[in-house]
Amino acid sequence: MAVPNDASAAVLLRSEPVPSDYVSVKGPNFENSMSLQDFLSSYTRIGFQATSLGRAVEIVNKMRSWRLSDEPVAEDEDDKLRSSAIRTATKCNIFLGYTSNLISSGLRETILYLVKHKHVAAVVTTAGGIEEDFIKCLGDTYLADFNLDGADLRRRGMNRIGNLIIPNDNYCKFEDWLMPILDNMLAEQKETGQVWTPSSIIRRLGKEINNEESVYYWAYKNDIPVFCPALTDGSMGDMIYFHSFKNPGLVIDIVQDIRELNEKSRRSRKAGMIILGGGVCKHQIANAMLIRNGADYSVFINTGQEFDGSDSGARPDEAISWGKIRSGAESVKVFADATLVFPMLVAATFAKDNQKS
Ligand SMILES: NC(=O)c1ccc[n+]([C@@H]2O[C@H](COP(=O)([O-])OP(=O)(O)OC[C@H]3O[C@@H](n4cnc5c(N)ncnc54)[C@H](O)[C@@H]3O)[C@@H](O)[C@H]2O)c1
Repeated sequence: MAVPNDASAAVLLRSEPVPSDYVSVKGPNFENSMSLQDFLSSYTRIGFQATSLGRAVEIVNKMRSWRLSDEPVAEDEDDKLRSSAIRTATKCNIFLGYTSNLISSGLRETILYLVKHKHVAAVVTTAGGIEEDFIKCLGDTYLADFNLDGADLRRRGMNRIGNLIIPNDNYCKFEDWLMPILDNMLAEQKETGQVWTPSSIIRRLGKEINNEESVYYWAYKNDIPVFCPALTDGSMGDMIYFHSFKNPGLVIDIVQDIRELNEKSRRSRKAGMIILGGGVCKHQIANAMLIRNGADYSVFINTGQEFDGSDSGARPDEAISWGKIRSGAESVKVFADATLVFPMLVAATFAKDNQKS
């Protein structure tokens, strides 16, 4: 019996010729010996989020290699930016954002690498992203289990962040370390009349910790501003609250910081965002990009979904609608846990010349 024509026409529909720029799907071949870089480049052709990671690598490498000298001198160019030496030295400003839990995790060391080697121009995080860095200089955070019982942990004075545990003693040590510094800061404020900002507090704490294992020690050393608009939403806030009873009067001004962050963005000839996670760290950087009519490069790595309308879950295209990413700019969102993906991204970009073949 003959195959019915309508069924075969439906199933065996002929394709148009495949466009010449299509890339075929292919995974890594473990039969061949492979360097880390070969392995990481193989992600580009795996598909799904692996391909998005490959795209993130491409975009970050563009952020890293861009120089003002790549572009012709505009007729209305600022006089200070006309010399070829200055143009060659003018890079894309990279704004790095991350949620607090990532400093609690071992991503802290990857972030530290970027700050220590001056790969980023500014950092935005939340309160836990500040205090957990200092607290780790005073006591360890431990690997544990997502399923530990909360009431039992509370009895034992253990705090859980996902599958990590932090003994509450670490926060007591933090208080012992921080209180005298807050006293000194208040005394200086009274003496000079100069109020503090979240970023100037973080710079001061980076200086005080004086420890090369701290992200903010390197931010202080390298004069990289760290913004934390919600500085009080964590142990920092508890300490500032206690301090306001013991020795009242400390003033923290967020106006100076929003001005500094937005001006840094406005003055950037090229600007890129690398944002791990969502919430304040994501939006505060994206909002600063609006001041310059949008970022030129954007890499988001987060697990947020957009169906609930959250900013955390919004894809780059939503930011384009607000003018926070320029239309036509290069952008990608990698839907993944940043702890899995970010070390690979850094290994394939900022740290790529740093590995054994
Ligand atoms: N260690 C901590 O997590 C900690 C400690 C003290 C205070 N806090 C406070 O809790 C508040 C909320 O924290 P937050 O704003 O930093 O972020 P959050 O933990 O609320 O995360 C915001 C969003 O980021 C995404 N995200 C988080 N972790 C991710 C990951 N590993 N990979 C990919 N995407 C991820 C998710 O979409 C999440 O909904 C802040 O004010 C912070 O200071 C947090």
